[in-house]
Amino acid sequence: MRAKLIIGNWKMNGSRAANAELLNGIVAGLDGAEAACAVCVPAPYLQQCQDALSGTAVAWGAQDVSMHECGPYTGEVCAAMLAEFACRYVIVGHSERRAYHRETSELVAKKALAVLAEGMTPIVCVGETLAQRDAGETMQVVGEMLGAVLEKLDPAALEKLVVAYEPVWAIGTGKNATPETAQEVHAHLRAQIRVRNAQAAQVVPILYGGSMKPDNAGALLAQPDIDGGLIGGAALKAGDFLGIIKAA
Ligand code: 13P
Repeated sequence: MRAKLIIGNWKMNGSRAANAELLNGIVAGLDGAEAACAVCVPAPYLQQCQDALSGTAVAWGAQDVSMHECGPYTGEVCAAMLAEFACRYVIVGHSERRAYHRETSELVAKKALAVLAEGMTPIVCVGETLAQRDAGETMQVVGEMLGAVLEKLDPAALEKLVVAYEPVWAIGTGKNATPETAQEVHAHLRAQIRVRNAQAAQVVPILYGGSMKPDNAGALLAQPDIDGGLIGGAALKAGDFLGIIKAA
């Protein structure tokens, strides 16, 4: 069985003072018996996470990365820099980046490769909009998003991925996908991985993201192909984040 994994995506939230309180609250609330967990924070706070979380059960990571190696790319942060802060995870292809920064699946695939090359784990996000769901295009849309990454990777490297299914209509809306709806998509994504590498399909965690909260986490995480959560709003309060970790 795959171990559950709960990852907080802070998005563009935080301050040094608020982060200290949140991180201390999470660490203090863990008793060692819970699911694996991590926080993905804005890049300027990676040092703070490394200082606060080294030696604890909470891993950390970033929310985006450049597809390039170090060089003349003003404003970008390369994977080698993130690795210097001991990041374990890097989110790539979040729907907010696809929507507001026009990131294509092709670019997302290059970012995933850059993350793997530095020994970190890419969290590849896929998800459909409400219009796409209503048009019956969900499986096609998420399949193309994941497929763009799968085809760029050596089949053996697939075992190092984390995938996150995040329906755009469920993000920050308070409307989560039902456990059955999410499970259907997760099973589809796992089958897609299986075609390339059967062993990877067994081990790759497929996380659900989109209004996951302590009160709906248990039912979502009880589904056979939902291996954890990528948590936005509820990851900003230690009590809520811990509630989801304990539900897992
Ligand atoms: P919410 O949990 O706030 O809906 O956000 C989900 C998300 O986008 C995580 O990456």
